[in-house]
Amino acid sequence: MLGVLVACFAVQTGLVYSDDVDLQLSKQAIEGRRLFHEESCQVCHQLWGQGGFLGPDLTNSASRVDETRLASLLTVGSGQMPALHLEKEQIAAMRAFLEELDRSEIGRGELRLGEPNEGTSPQTAFEAAVVDASSSPGVVAGFEALRSGACSACHFPFQVSIVGAPDLSTVVERLDEAELHEVLTKGRPEKGMPPPVPAFSEARRQQVIEYFRWLNGEREALRSETERRQSRATVDWSRLPWWEYR
Ligand code: HEC
Ligand code: HEC
Repeated sequence: MLGVLVACFAVQTGLVYSDDVDLQLSKQAIEGRRLFHEESCQVCHQLWGQGGFLGPDLTNSASRVDETRLASLLTVGSGQMPALHLEKEQIAAMRAFLEELDRSEIGRGELRLGEPNEGTSPQTAFEAAVVDASSSPGVVAGFEALRSGACSACHFPFQVSIVGAPDLSTVVERLDEAELHEVLTKGRPEKGMPPPVPAFSEARRQQVIEYFRWLNGEREALRSETERRQSRATVDWSRLPWWEYR
């Protein structure tokens, strides 16, 4: 009996300590993590939904907080976020840490119930679904062109938006190649579709069109994947970095 218990203990210990995530942090990010603990950021902030609740979850904050804002938050503070007066290198380390945490395959941070959840807005859920499903370089490049062109300000996934911007996942059913090139070059300013800024090169337009075709083919799969991601922020517990709580 005792032998069995000892064996269980050994196996359990082995499991706990070998469970060290594939989350490999760079040296700079490890420094950021150290600071994160030293400055007690977790007293007010969560990572993967764990921590204090005065401030927002920071798991995916890197994509919404730019460098300038982070620097200002970590020096002069903001609202209830205290002025911490961090040095330049400390800010860079914190930035590295937050950026390396912000990976869709690890899980999205969950905010408190009742708050608008950044991690599961339709657009975020859709983009995460596309990133996971797309493989061909042309498709990925086309998608990135749309993302960096802020097209999602008007075009929403799988619906006509309030400003009348159509669902781009069905655009290849409406427009032929020449018409697509035309709208991607000149826009339709009189109808509320501005020309892309900066303008797309011919090669870029080709990639965008390749992305539209792919999107059309994958429409149903992407749509249900987007819904799934929206209905529940998925955290893959087995991939949570346990070091955070050691
Ligand atoms: C006393 C509580 C407290 C502590 C400690 C604290 N924060 Fe904050 N933090 C806040 C609050 C409250 C906000 C929201 C402020 C606002 O929006 O004006 C915030 C906002 C932020 C944001 C912006 C998040 C977003 O989504 O806009 C970042 C990034 C951040 N804090 C990082 C940190 C880091 C890194 C540390 C540790 C070095 C830290 N905070 C320590 C309370 C705190
Ligand atoms: C300010 C809002 C706005 C932005 C930003 C915007 N669009 Fe549009 N887009 C529209 C509207 C409105 C239409 C519908 C025009 C019409 O009725 O003919 C449209 C139409 C289109 C069409 C034709 C769709 C069809 O079915 O006829 C394509 C393709 C398109 N947009 C691509 C893009 C791309 C790519 C971007 C980013 C570079 C972008 N749009 C940015 C508002 C916008």
